[in-house]
Amino acid sequence: MNAKLGRIFSGIQPSAGVPHLGNYIGAIKPWVHYQDTAPLKPILSVVDLHALTNPKLKPEILRDNIFQMTASLLACGLDPNKCIIFQQSTVPHHTELSWILTCCSTLQRIQAINTWREKVKLLGKEKGAPLGVLVYPLLMAADILLYKTDTIPVGDDQSQNIELTRELATTFNRRFNCNVMKVPEKLVQTESNRIKSLRDPTSKMSKSDDTQGSSVTILDCQDLIRAKIKKAVTDSNPVLSFDPEKRPGVSNLIGIYAAMKNISKSDALTEVESMDTLQLKNAVSDVVVEALSPIRSEHSRLMESKEYLTQVLNNGKNSATEIADQTLIEVKKAIGVL
Ligand code: AMP
Ligand code: TRP
Repeated sequence: MNAKLGRIFSGIQPSAGVPHLGNYIGAIKPWVHYQDTAPLKPILSVVDLHALTNPKLKPEILRDNIFQMTASLLACGLDPNKCIIFQQSTVPHHTELSWILTCCSTLQRIQAINTWREKVKLLGKEKGAPLGVLVYPLLMAADILLYKTDTIPVGDDQSQNIELTRELATTFNRRFNCNVMKVPEKLVQTESNRIKSLRDPTSKMSKSDDTQGSSVTILDCQDLIRAKIKKAVTDSNPVLSFDPEKRPGVSNLIGIYAAMKNISKSDALTEVESMDTLQLKNAVSDVVVEALSPIRSEHSRLMESKEYLTQVLNNGKNSATEIADQTLIEVKKAIGVL
């Protein structure tokens, strides 16, 4: 038990439905570990309200994605008895606190977070992007502060949002002369844990990258996994070495091998050192297929039982609401509406 972790909160958007290998290695595997090591149940939210910032997401797709993501999290080993898994929109406290925080921040401060400009470009809507793209970090701050979170395991791309959350917590406590908000620590995933695209190993594996074969999803069948990894971009040096700067493709494959076998990168290198690139690709395919096969069948079993998934999310909602209720009452008393 690692008492320092305290309360852990993290969120994953159901925008693509099924996580890819980067999500699995970088986020879900660590969460599975935390459910056994953290002193309090980690809280994991399928953040459907955040996914609404994509105006192209159709309602029927979102509805299905929420189930797909929940089934994926459970299939990857998250245990509803050891953590709280819930759908963000079922706990309205998130939107309520988000509005209160919106009134505690400034337009200038939110505009200084530069991710929204990139998102606007990505959506191709320079003239008419949803306002949610700009105020997204305030909803994220509400997610975190509602549960008096100590630790937030997220990627380094979320750093500015976490920094805003910490600032808002401090500003709120000072302005309302209280101690309601807990200033969270962050747990930034280091660059070395980032899984890269198989087609372009200088950029991260991502949901929005549609390039054929750039990512492996946790539901890909064995043949597809092998085909994608076989085509992974590497280099012409036949001797294997780990050097993410100079040899991003080979190093990415060694990183995947290490993560799937739960061993260090140096131990992974020792195991594969004598192989050529093709043998490495086969070895990586073997460990990925071995790890993902049971996940794939468990996912399809769970998708057959929507009632069970609904029940898990409903229990999660009840547990999350209990905590969120308390915080929101304290917040309302502090600001003078209660
Ligand atoms: P996203 O897919 O961007 O919504 O991210 C969901 C979670 O997966 C976050 O905690 C990310 O940091 C993590 N994640 C996303 N892509 C990668 C990647 N390529 N490598 C490692 N972790 C990732
Ligand atoms: N913004 C996060 C992402 O895109 C998802 C998220 C929403 C989140 N709320 C959160 C992560 C709260 C951690 C804590 O990956």
